[in-house]
Amino acid sequence: MSTTTVTPVEAVRLADPYPFYARLVATRPFAFDEALGAWVAADAAAVRAVLGSGVLRVRPVAQPVPAGIAGTAAGEVFGQLVRMTDGAAAARLKGVVAGALARADTAYAAELAARFTREALAGGGDVPYEELMFGIPARVVAVLSGLAGGAGREAARAIADFVRCIPATATPDDCGAAAVAAARLRELLGPVLDAASAAPAGPGLRNRPGGAGQAGALLAGLVRAADRDGWVDLGPLLSNAIGFLSQTYDATAGLIGNTLVALARGEHAPDTGALVREVVRHDAPIQNTRRFAAGSFTHAGSTVEPGQQVLVVLAAANRDPAVNPDPHTLLPGRVNPVIFTFGAAAHRCPGEELAVAVATAVVTELRTAGLKATATPAYRPLANARIPHL
Ligand code: HEM
Repeated sequence: MSTTTVTPVEAVRLADPYPFYARLVATRPFAFDEALGAWVAADAAAVRAVLGSGVLRVRPVAQPVPAGIAGTAAGEVFGQLVRMTDGAAAARLKGVVAGALARADTAYAAELAARFTREALAGGGDVPYEELMFGIPARVVAVLSGLAGGAGREAARAIADFVRCIPATATPDDCGAAAVAAARLRELLGPVLDAASAAPAGPGLRNRPGGAGQAGALLAGLVRAADRDGWVDLGPLLSNAIGFLSQTYDATAGLIGNTLVALARGEHAPDTGALVREVVRHDAPIQNTRRFAAGSFTHAGSTVEPGQQVLVVLAAANRDPAVNPDPHTLLPGRVNPVIFTFGAAAHRCPGEELAVAVATAVVTELRTAGLKATATPAYRPLANARIPHL
């Protein structure tokens, strides 16, 4: 694929999208892309302005839920995710969700990820990259959500089906699979959430101390955060518990995969955690996100009209020389990097520490085992997540 004719969506899966992004930053930092039919925000100033704007929303005003899943369990879950909603109720629920994730025990998550990785490698033979990248992060979050063993594995499989409904390119088959998966995930997680919320005052699931490192502590934390806020409706909490799994899935797989590729290309960083954090910036697992104008928005003399879309190229802004010196160099331990991979402002990702902890643990185990991935992978044909086939 030629980098001269590529769109910023096709760039996600190029072997090296970064020269293309650098040209966008230098020459078209905020411009309308005819081929995409959308505005593209590429430099740090545009990305910051777009993500900080109240009139640019995460869903089109006329279609809060994709038509293919409207009226199904997947549609109900989707429509209650803080990731997919704006407004006062969403902001309040975001506080509850972020409160729970802020207290998640990342050391326990790392311990689980390391153990699952060792188990996955114990059989010998081909390295099970699919399981290491996708399955293990999902199973870790499942355990934190009270689903261990077979239930955790089932949740990890179901979330793979649920996320199929999220891309704009989802087919009727994808939407059908997502609807079945959403219903099953509610059956799996609902009883855990009910038990946490029904626990009486005093010792019990609801009152587990933060960071207790126990299976189910994340949902107990969700109930506690809801209590603190006076939030009583369990339905949106259950949807966002499913959201913990779906938000983990592709993104953490990309972070693990892209770190393994950096190592295969000869990166020797002794501190795996520092390497993972710099890969977040340098080879972002989530390369872009979208906004939909509910009103008009002007930046640097250009105006987005109501109804138009903006593609926000996080991975390009990460390499804007205006915010990160020597931006194309992978520099583990970089001082005060400016990173857009986890978004910014109202919808900023509350799962960063958990994702970095899990990815670091998986990669550490692979390094210890002396395993190396390919340096020149193909990338999955996804519109916003950069995930190598290893
Ligand atoms: C490398 C891994 C991850 C990356 C790169 C990532 C990236 C992002 C980005 C870019 C957003 C904002 C999207 C937007 O504004 O349009 C987001 C939102 C979110 N992420 Fe993550 N994420 C990761 C892992 C996780 C994990 C592990 C969790 C939780 C278990 C999580 C939970 C969330 C939630 C709940 C939101 C919605 C926040 C909101 O809309 O207010 N993420 N993530």
